[in-house]
Amino acid sequence: MNSKILVFGSINADLVFPLEKLPREGETVLGVNYSFHPGGKGANQAVAASRAGAEVTFHGCLGKDAFAEELLNSLIQSNVDVSQINRVNTPSGCAAIGVDTSGANQIMVAAGANLHVMASQVPDNLLTPTTIVVLQMEVPAKENWSLINRAKALGSTVILNLAPAGAVPLETLSLIDFLIGNELEVLTLARNLELKEKQPIEAAQKIAQLTKKTCILTLGEEGAFASNSINFWRVPALALDPVDTTAAGDCFVGWLAARLASGDNLEQSLRWASVAAGKACLISGAQTSLPDFRSVEASLSDLPRNN
Ligand code: RIB
Repeated sequence: MNSKILVFGSINADLVFPLEKLPREGETVLGVNYSFHPGGKGANQAVAASRAGAEVTFHGCLGKDAFAEELLNSLIQSNVDVSQINRVNTPSGCAAIGVDTSGANQIMVAAGANLHVMASQVPDNLLTPTTIVVLQMEVPAKENWSLINRAKALGSTVILNLAPAGAVPLETLSLIDFLIGNELEVLTLARNLELKEKQPIEAAQKIAQLTKKTCILTLGEEGAFASNSINFWRVPALALDPVDTTAAGDCFVGWLAARLASGDNLEQSLRWASVAAGKACLISGAQTSLPDFRSVEASLSDLPRNN
């Protein structure tokens, strides 16, 4: 039987500014236009998993502002169950995203309504042994840790995306089945755990040994690396020219969760996630760029065998 996915996390209005180059500290950079796109790491991951074919519920908070309806509609149009979204008297989360001509980005987030997300509002019946719970770090940390405790006690599988970078208590880490982060995020966690490893791959391996769970490191154009305390895997990336890398990490997380939910093993799931994340770099915006099942399936054979 396929597992269901519960995404617990953030939802943001993204204001995207295409720029020749990203500003340095103290610098003003003049662009031409900006555009609004639905975003937020949690909502992006929910949409990615749903487009991958999974049954997805999103639990999060929206304000009562003009952005909120657009953000809600984007989830609904992607077949995400929005019955667990609460409306609060605080503006919806908002992100200002600069994107340069190489597709690299710089993101600033005002958390807004995301700070009202509460683990206690997630009903027990959504946390079953056939649920994969997906979390990120844009909602209050204590709510994440509380939900992870409950989800594990009720037999769910837990995926934590370490974005944005931050500390995770060791007792919580050992409850997380799949920890996913980019190089900066994995190294930040390693530093917080006072590990001596300074290279991302070594840090990921050490974290996996310490927690006896799986640590996955996303490596951009180099693909991804995963390790548990016994084995490791390398998956390449599609060769392409990125337009906008925003939400590529979210796409990876959502697709990985969806493929695991469908019964694929870790190695197969990593390959789907890598292809999907690559495709998400070809279109501007967060949710607007997340590929559907057919498009990822069509490119799966273009991914080289593992290096
Ligand atoms: O990961 C990309 C996302 O980060 C954006 O959609 C933005 O809202 C921030 O949460």
